[in-house]
Amino acid sequence: MEVIMRPTAGAAALLAARLIAARLREKHDLVLGLATGRTMEMVYELLVRMHREEGLDFSLCRTFNLDEYIGLEPADPHSYHAYMGKHLFSRVNIDSRNTRLPDGMASDLKAAALRYEKDIAACGGIDLQLLGIGHDGHIGFNEPLSSLRSRTRDKTLTPGTIAVNSTLFGDEPHRMPRRAMTMGVGTILDAREIVLLATGSNKAAIMVQALEGPVTSMVTASALQLHPSCKVIVDEAAAGDLKAKDYYRWIFENEPEWEPYRDAPPVKKGTT
Ligand code: GLP
Repeated sequence: MEVIMRPTAGAAALLAARLIAARLREKHDLVLGLATGRTMEMVYELLVRMHREEGLDFSLCRTFNLDEYIGLEPADPHSYHAYMGKHLFSRVNIDSRNTRLPDGMASDLKAAALRYEKDIAACGGIDLQLLGIGHDGHIGFNEPLSSLRSRTRDKTLTPGTIAVNSTLFGDEPHRMPRRAMTMGVGTILDAREIVLLATGSNKAAIMVQALEGPVTSMVTASALQLHPSCKVIVDEAAAGDLKAKDYYRWIFENEPEWEPYRDAPPVKKGTT
Protein backbone atom coordinates (compact mmCIF):
# COMPACT_ATOMS: atom_id res chain seq x y z
CA MET A 1 0.00 0.00 0.00
CA GLU A 2 1.20 3.48 -0.82
CA VAL A 3 -0.21 6.53 0.92
CA ILE A 4 0.03 9.79 -1.01
CA MET A 5 -0.71 13.11 0.69
CA ARG A 6 -1.80 16.18 -1.23
CA PRO A 7 -2.37 19.61 0.27
CA THR A 8 -6.04 20.05 -0.60
CA ALA A 9 -9.11 18.00 -1.54
CA GLY A 10 -8.87 19.48 -5.04
CA ALA A 11 -5.25 18.39 -5.48
CA ALA A 12 -6.07 14.90 -4.14
CA ALA A 13 -9.00 14.51 -6.56
CA LEU A 14 -6.85 15.80 -9.41
CA LEU A 15 -4.20 13.17 -8.72
CA ALA A 16 -6.85 10.42 -8.67
CA ALA A 17 -8.36 11.70 -11.93
CA ARG A 18 -4.93 11.93 -13.60
CA LEU A 19 -4.14 8.34 -12.59
CA ILE A 20 -7.43 7.09 -14.04
CA ALA A 21 -6.86 9.09 -17.23
CA ALA A 22 -3.33 7.67 -17.59
CA ARG A 23 -4.61 4.08 -17.27
CA LEU A 24 -7.38 4.78 -19.79
CA ARG A 25 -4.88 6.22 -22.28
CA GLU A 26 -2.68 3.12 -21.85
CA LYS A 27 -5.61 0.72 -22.30
CA HIS A 28 -8.65 2.05 -24.17
CA ASP A 29 -10.90 -0.85 -23.13
CA LEU A 30 -9.96 -0.45 -19.46
CA VAL A 31 -12.28 -2.21 -17.00
CA LEU A 32 -12.88 0.46 -14.41
CA GLY A 33 -14.50 -0.09 -11.02
CA LEU A 34 -16.38 3.01 -9.93
CA ALA A 35 -17.52 4.48 -6.63
CA THR A 36 -20.14 7.01 -5.59
CA GLY A 37 -20.39 9.55 -2.76
CA ARG A 38 -19.56 13.22 -2.33
CA THR A 39 -15.79 12.65 -2.52
CA MET A 40 -16.05 11.24 -6.05
CA GLU A 41 -17.99 14.16 -7.49
CA MET A 42 -14.82 16.19 -8.00
CA VAL A 43 -13.02 13.25 -9.63
CA TYR A 44 -15.84 12.84 -12.15
CA GLU A 45 -15.95 16.59 -12.78
CA LEU A 46 -12.22 16.51 -13.59
CA LEU A 47 -12.60 13.46 -15.86
CA VAL A 48 -15.40 15.22 -17.73
CA ARG A 49 -13.11 18.23 -18.16
CA MET A 50 -10.29 16.01 -19.46
CA HIS A 51 -12.76 14.47 -21.91
CA ARG A 52 -13.86 17.88 -23.18
CA GLU A 53 -10.52 19.68 -23.16
CA GLU A 54 -8.00 16.90 -23.82
CA GLY A 55 -10.14 14.37 -25.71
CA LEU A 56 -9.96 11.69 -23.01
CA ASP A 57 -11.76 8.82 -24.72
CA PHE A 58 -14.23 6.58 -22.87
CA SER A 59 -15.70 4.94 -25.98
CA LEU A 60 -14.27 1.48 -25.24
CA CYS A 61 -14.11 1.77 -21.45
CA ARG A 62 -16.15 -0.73 -19.43
CA THR A 63 -17.33 0.09 -15.92
CA PHE A 64 -18.67 -1.75 -12.89
CA ASN A 65 -19.96 0.19 -9.92
CA LEU A 66 -19.37 -0.98 -6.40
CA ASP A 67 -22.90 -0.86 -5.12
CA GLU A 68 -26.55 0.14 -5.43
CA TYR A 69 -29.40 0.55 -2.97
CA ILE A 70 -31.96 -2.22 -2.81
CA GLY A 71 -35.45 -1.08 -3.72
CA LEU A 72 -34.63 2.09 -5.67
CA GLU A 73 -35.48 2.15 -9.37
CA PRO A 74 -32.52 3.16 -11.58
CA ALA A 75 -34.50 6.29 -12.53
CA ASP A 76 -34.91 7.30 -8.87
CA PRO A 77 -32.79 10.45 -8.42
CA HIS A 78 -31.29 9.00 -5.22
CA SER A 79 -30.12 5.76 -6.86
CA TYR A 80 -26.47 5.24 -7.70
CA HIS A 81 -27.59 4.60 -11.31
CA ALA A 82 -28.87 8.19 -11.36
CA TYR A 83 -25.74 9.48 -9.60
CA MET A 84 -23.47 7.93 -12.24
CA GLY A 85 -25.61 9.22 -15.10
CA LYS A 86 -25.60 12.72 -13.68
CA HIS A 87 -21.91 13.00 -12.75
CA LEU A 88 -20.19 10.97 -15.47
CA PHE A 89 -22.01 8.74 -17.95
CA SER A 90 -24.17 11.43 -19.57
CA ARG A 91 -21.19 13.78 -19.86
CA VAL A 92 -18.55 11.63 -21.58
CA ASN A 93 -18.54 9.40 -24.67
CA ILE A 94 -19.06 6.14 -22.79
CA ASP A 95 -21.28 3.46 -24.34
CA SER A 96 -24.15 2.91 -21.87
CA ARG A 97 -24.07 -0.82 -22.75
CA ASN A 98 -20.62 -0.93 -21.18
CA THR A 99 -21.71 0.54 -17.83
CA ARG A 100 -22.95 -1.78 -15.10
CA LEU A 101 -24.24 -1.35 -11.58
CA PRO A 102 -25.61 -4.03 -9.27
CA ASP A 103 -29.34 -4.64 -9.75
CA GLY A 104 -31.00 -3.45 -6.56
CA MET A 105 -34.46 -4.17 -8.00
CA ALA A 106 -33.87 -7.86 -8.81
CA SER A 107 -36.55 -10.21 -7.53
CA ASP A 108 -33.81 -12.77 -6.85
CA LEU A 109 -30.95 -10.82 -5.28
CA LYS A 110 -28.67 -13.84 -4.88
CA ALA A 111 -28.95 -14.69 -8.59
CA ALA A 112 -28.36 -11.05 -9.53
CA ALA A 113 -25.26 -10.92 -7.31
CA LEU A 114 -23.87 -14.07 -8.90
CA ARG A 115 -24.57 -12.64 -12.35
CA TYR A 116 -22.65 -9.47 -11.44
CA GLU A 117 -19.60 -11.51 -10.42
CA LYS A 118 -19.83 -13.48 -13.67
CA ASP A 119 -20.09 -10.28 -15.74
CA ILE A 120 -16.95 -8.89 -14.09
CA ALA A 121 -15.10 -12.15 -14.77
CA ALA A 122 -16.33 -12.22 -18.40
CA CYS A 123 -14.71 -8.80 -18.92
CA GLY A 124 -11.41 -10.19 -17.67
CA GLY A 125 -11.65 -8.70 -14.16
CA ILE A 126 -11.34 -5.12 -12.98
CA ASP A 127 -8.15 -3.32 -14.02
CA LEU A 128 -8.52 -0.31 -11.75
CA GLN A 129 -10.96 0.02 -8.85
CA LEU A 130 -11.74 3.48 -7.50
CA LEU A 131 -12.84 3.60 -3.85
CA GLY A 132 -14.07 6.05 -1.26
CA ILE A 133 -14.43 5.20 2.41
CA GLY A 134 -17.38 5.39 4.78
CA HIS A 135 -17.14 6.77 8.32
CA ASP A 136 -17.12 3.24 9.73
CA GLY A 137 -14.37 2.20 7.33
CA HIS A 138 -16.62 0.53 4.79
CA ILE A 139 -15.55 0.13 1.17
CA GLY A 140 -18.48 -0.29 -1.19
CA PHE A 141 -21.14 -1.07 1.39
CA ASN A 142 -19.07 -3.68 3.22
CA GLU A 143 -20.11 -2.78 6.71
CA PRO A 144 -18.18 -3.90 9.83
CA LEU A 145 -17.82 -7.69 10.13
CA SER A 146 -18.19 -8.25 6.39
CA SER A 147 -16.02 -11.23 5.56
CA LEU A 148 -12.74 -10.14 4.05
CA ARG A 149 -13.35 -12.81 1.38
CA SER A 150 -16.97 -11.77 0.69
CA ARG A 151 -18.35 -11.54 -2.86
CA THR A 152 -21.16 -9.42 -4.32
CA ARG A 153 -24.27 -9.79 -2.16
CA ASP A 154 -27.04 -7.91 -0.39
CA LYS A 155 -26.05 -6.25 2.86
CA THR A 156 -27.90 -4.55 5.69
CA LEU A 157 -26.57 -1.04 6.33
CA THR A 158 -25.64 0.17 9.81
CA PRO A 159 -27.74 2.89 11.49
CA GLY A 160 -24.62 5.12 11.28
CA THR A 161 -24.34 4.70 7.51
CA ILE A 162 -28.08 5.30 7.12
CA ALA A 163 -27.79 8.50 9.18
CA VAL A 164 -24.84 9.83 7.12
CA ASN A 165 -26.15 8.87 3.66
CA SER A 166 -29.78 9.86 4.28
CA THR A 167 -28.65 13.50 4.27
CA LEU A 168 -28.24 13.00 0.50
CA PHE A 169 -31.96 12.24 0.26
CA GLY A 170 -32.80 15.93 0.68
CA ASP A 171 -36.15 16.45 2.33
CA GLU A 172 -36.98 12.74 2.06
CA PRO A 173 -34.39 11.13 4.43
CA HIS A 174 -36.93 8.42 5.33
CA ARG A 175 -36.63 7.11 1.74
CA MET A 176 -33.02 6.02 2.35
CA PRO A 177 -33.03 2.22 1.92
CA ARG A 178 -31.87 -0.02 4.75
CA ARG A 179 -30.08 -2.45 2.45
CA ALA A 180 -27.79 -2.40 -0.55
CA MET A 181 -26.21 -4.76 -3.06
CA THR A 182 -22.43 -4.41 -2.93
CA MET A 183 -19.31 -5.98 -4.37
CA GLY A 184 -17.67 -7.98 -1.58
CA VAL A 185 -14.29 -7.24 -0.03
CA GLY A 186 -12.95 -10.27 -1.93
CA THR A 187 -14.38 -8.90 -5.19
CA ILE A 188 -12.65 -5.55 -4.57
CA LEU A 189 -9.33 -7.20 -3.65
CA ASP A 190 -9.39 -9.08 -6.98
CA ALA A 191 -8.95 -5.79 -8.88
CA ARG A 192 -5.48 -5.50 -10.40
CA GLU A 193 -5.01 -1.99 -9.03
CA ILE A 194 -6.90 0.01 -6.42
CA VAL A 195 -7.06 3.76 -5.78
CA LEU A 196 -8.81 4.93 -2.62
CA LEU A 197 -9.50 8.64 -2.23
CA ALA A 198 -10.36 10.22 1.13
CA THR A 199 -10.66 13.92 1.85
CA GLY A 200 -11.77 16.12 4.73
CA SER A 201 -11.16 16.10 8.47
CA ASN A 202 -14.27 13.99 9.10
CA LYS A 203 -12.36 11.03 7.58
CA ALA A 204 -9.20 11.53 9.69
CA ALA A 205 -10.10 9.14 12.52
CA ILE A 206 -11.15 6.25 10.28
CA MET A 207 -8.06 6.67 8.05
CA VAL A 208 -5.79 5.91 11.01
CA GLN A 209 -7.68 2.70 11.69
CA ALA A 210 -7.82 1.68 8.02
CA LEU A 211 -4.18 2.43 7.12
CA GLU A 212 -2.18 2.13 10.31
CA GLY A 213 -4.34 -0.20 12.39
CA PRO A 214 -4.66 -3.99 12.25
CA VAL A 215 -6.37 -5.77 9.36
CA THR A 216 -9.83 -6.46 10.70
CA SER A 217 -13.31 -7.07 9.34
CA MET A 218 -14.47 -4.37 11.78
CA VAL A 219 -12.89 -1.85 9.35
CA THR A 220 -13.18 -3.41 5.93
CA ALA A 221 -10.90 -0.81 4.28
CA SER A 222 -8.06 -2.26 6.38
CA ALA A 223 -8.15 -5.30 4.06
CA LEU A 224 -6.55 -3.06 1.41
CA GLN A 225 -3.29 -3.51 3.34
CA LEU A 226 -3.25 -7.01 1.82
CA HIS A 227 -3.50 -5.76 -1.78
CA PRO A 228 -0.27 -5.77 -3.84
CA SER A 229 -1.07 -2.58 -5.74
CA CYS A 230 -3.18 -0.17 -3.69
CA LYS A 231 -2.71 3.59 -3.68
CA VAL A 232 -4.42 5.69 -1.04
CA ILE A 233 -4.69 9.39 -1.85
CA VAL A 234 -5.53 11.69 1.05
CA ASP A 235 -5.59 15.42 1.57
CA GLU A 236 -3.89 16.99 4.59
CA ALA A 237 -7.20 17.10 6.48
CA ALA A 238 -7.99 13.39 6.10
CA ALA A 239 -4.34 12.59 6.89
CA GLY A 240 -4.47 14.76 10.03
CA ASP A 241 -4.13 11.91 12.57
CA LEU A 242 -1.81 9.58 10.62
CA LYS A 243 1.41 8.64 12.43
CA ALA A 244 3.71 8.27 9.41
CA LYS A 245 2.81 11.53 7.62
CA ASP A 246 6.44 12.53 6.99
CA TYR A 247 7.11 9.23 5.26
CA TYR A 248 3.99 9.58 3.09
CA ARG A 249 5.13 13.06 1.97
CA TRP A 250 8.58 11.61 1.27
CA ILE A 251 7.08 8.87 -0.94
CA PHE A 252 5.41 11.38 -3.26
CA GLU A 253 8.58 13.47 -3.50
CA ASN A 254 10.96 10.56 -4.08
CA GLU A 255 9.19 7.58 -5.65
CA PRO A 256 9.95 7.61 -9.43
CA GLU A 257 6.39 6.50 -10.26
CA TRP A 258 5.08 9.85 -9.03
CA GLU A 259 7.54 11.97 -11.00
CA PRO A 260 5.11 12.81 -13.83
CA TYR A 261 2.49 13.84 -11.28
CA ARG A 262 4.64 16.23 -9.25
CA ASP A 263 4.30 18.94 -11.86
CA ALA A 264 0.50 18.83 -11.53
CA PRO A 265 -0.96 21.89 -13.25
CA PRO A 266 -2.53 24.34 -10.85
CA VAL A 267 -6.01 23.25 -9.85
CA LYS A 268 -8.48 25.48 -11.61
CA LYS A 269 -10.82 27.69 -9.67
CA GLY A 270 -13.85 25.83 -8.37
CA THR A 271 -12.07 22.50 -7.82
CA THR A 272 -10.30 23.17 -4.52
C1 GLP B 1 -21.24 5.37 0.39
C2 GLP B 1 -20.69 4.43 -0.66
C3 GLP B 1 -19.20 4.26 -0.51
C4 GLP B 1 -18.51 5.60 -0.35
C5 GLP B 1 -19.06 6.29 0.85
C6 GLP B 1 -18.36 7.60 1.18
O1 GLP B 1 -21.45 4.76 1.60
N1 GLP B 1 -21.31 3.14 -0.61
O2 GLP B 1 -18.70 3.58 -1.64
O3 GLP B 1 -17.13 5.41 -0.23
O4 GLP B 1 -20.43 6.52 0.59
O5 GLP B 1 -19.08 8.69 0.71
P1 GLP B 1 -18.62 10.20 0.81
O6 GLP B 1 -17.62 10.39 -0.25
O7 GLP B 1 -19.88 10.96 0.55
O8 GLP B 1 -18.06 10.41 2.16
